[in-house]
Amino acid sequence: MQLTIRNALSSDKKTVLDFCKSTFSWGDYIHYVWDNWLDEGNFFVLCENRHSVAICHGFIIKNAKLVWIEGIRVNPNYRQKGYAKKLVTKVETVAKKNGCKLAAMIIESNNFKSLKLASKLHYTKNKKWNYYILTPTKHRTTNIQQAKSPKEIAKYLVDSEFYIRSWRWIPLDAKTISSLVKEKKIIISKNQNHIDSLGIITESDHFEKTMMLTLIYTTKSGIKKILPYIQNLAYEKKFERIQILTKMRTLPTYSGLEKRLTFYHMTKNLD
Ligand SMILES: CC(C)(COP(=O)(O)OP(=O)(O)OC[C@H]1O[C@@H](n2cnc3c(N)ncnc32)[C@H](O)[C@@H]1OP(=O)(O)O)[C@@H](O)C(=O)NCCC(=O)NCCS
Repeated sequence: MQLTIRNALSSDKKTVLDFCKSTFSWGDYIHYVWDNWLDEGNFFVLCENRHSVAICHGFIIKNAKLVWIEGIRVNPNYRQKGYAKKLVTKVETVAKKNGCKLAAMIIESNNFKSLKLASKLHYTKNKKWNYYILTPTKHRTTNIQQAKSPKEIAKYLVDSEFYIRSWRWIPLDAKTISSLVKEKKIIISKNQNHIDSLGIITESDHFEKTMMLTLIYTTKSGIKKILPYIQNLAYEKKFERIQILTKMRTLPTYSGLEKRLTFYHMTKNLD
């Protein structure tokens, strides 16, 4: 039997998408990201006797010396042969050569096989993140402002190590915070002089018409300001869906806000 790991090619697309049609109960997302991942590079395919049977993508965030590992998929007929382990190890090796010190990924909390795979590869559970969805809807504009300076929000970001862009957890270092402020991506609401909600908005690079909100902090009163604002923004921009990720254990109730899944953010030192 011949095993090889090589860069993915456009010609692998059909074969791979065929075995990724019903990975999860809700389907899969690989068809949305395939072309972008090919362009971004570090997109690997494992071939058994020249048949592409498994994939994995590594996205290197140079300034953070971090590799984001995503899209680990093994054709159901070729599982438990060590292929996922081989692919992740390949991505880690390439990442190390590129100066990365940390590898990270997210795994849904009920995906026991993957959690086991990650633990075998010495990843550890970092924080738990809750995933909610919300529909774009017209609202009267609410009392929301864009953060004017990193200083204004510093206190609230102390424990916030990441924000989410295209389902990648990006470290919130000082430089990143500063550019998010400049791009007007950090929104806040206030009750008197206190911030009562804070979130980071991104428009997905890979998933069409999808707005993502990393909800850093909210109170009961704050949620009634930040969520109508984002619903209206998405409505005006003709977006189809809003995805919300938060480390907050529970959110105050809000009509239409639906909790979907919980994910573990997992990391591994590459030193
Ligand atoms: C999870 C998945 C990628 C594993 O691929 P795989 O090639 O079968 O995994 P490997 O053979 O490399 O197994 C590596 C380790 O994972 C764990 N594992 C994999 N499949 C398992 C299963 N069915 N039951 C229990 N543990 C399992 C084991 O600990 C295994 O190590 P071991 O054999 O030394 O005990 C594969 O099942 C898959 O494609 N699932 C659907 C997509 C998915 O969940 N992707 C990950 C999203 S984060």
